[in-house]
Amino acid sequence: MSELHEILYCSVLSPSEPPLVVGQIVGQARARNAEHGITGLLVFDGSRFCHHLEGPSHAVDMLMKRIADDRRHEDVRVLYSGHRQERRYKRFDLGFAQSEDPDDMAGVHELEGTQALERFLVLRPGFDING
Ligand SMILES: Cc1cc2nc3c(=O)[nH]c(=O)nc-3n(C[C@H](O)[C@H](O)[C@H](O)COP(=O)(O)O)c2cc1C
Repeated sequence: MSELHEILYCSVLSPSEPPLVVGQIVGQARARNAEHGITGLLVFDGSRFCHHLEGPSHAVDMLMKRIADDRRHEDVRVLYSGHRQERRYKRFDLGFAQSEDPDDMAGVHELEGTQALERFLVLRPGFDING
């Protein structure tokens, strides 16, 4: 299998968007990600997003450009970008979790690079993922 690319980015829901829009984003993303071999987990705490995504390099790069241009969120910052041989997410085209503790996502947003990724991965088992 060719090398995979993984990205962890964070962003903030645009003030003009109702939180309801998050459900629409996830619904559309699931179908598209399945088509393009993209897996990952999107966590939302009511205002902040953290999204960890992985897949073939070209597909991930194209998707990241579309996400960065999406006006439904702002302050899009890539915290970690790297390569892997194996997927971390096997079940999900896009897992989604609502984080109940605002400190969780705030903590990841403050970090960068491998520290941000490691923090996210430590929190991951505690998320109630619905897929
Ligand atoms: C926080 C957030 C996460 C998103 N995640 C994905 C995703 O995983 N897959 C996807 O196809 N689109 C995702 N989108 C939507 C894309 O930004 C974009 O609207 C969608 O891919 C359609 O792009 P197009 O209108 O240029 O065809 C996400 C948007 C936001 C705001």
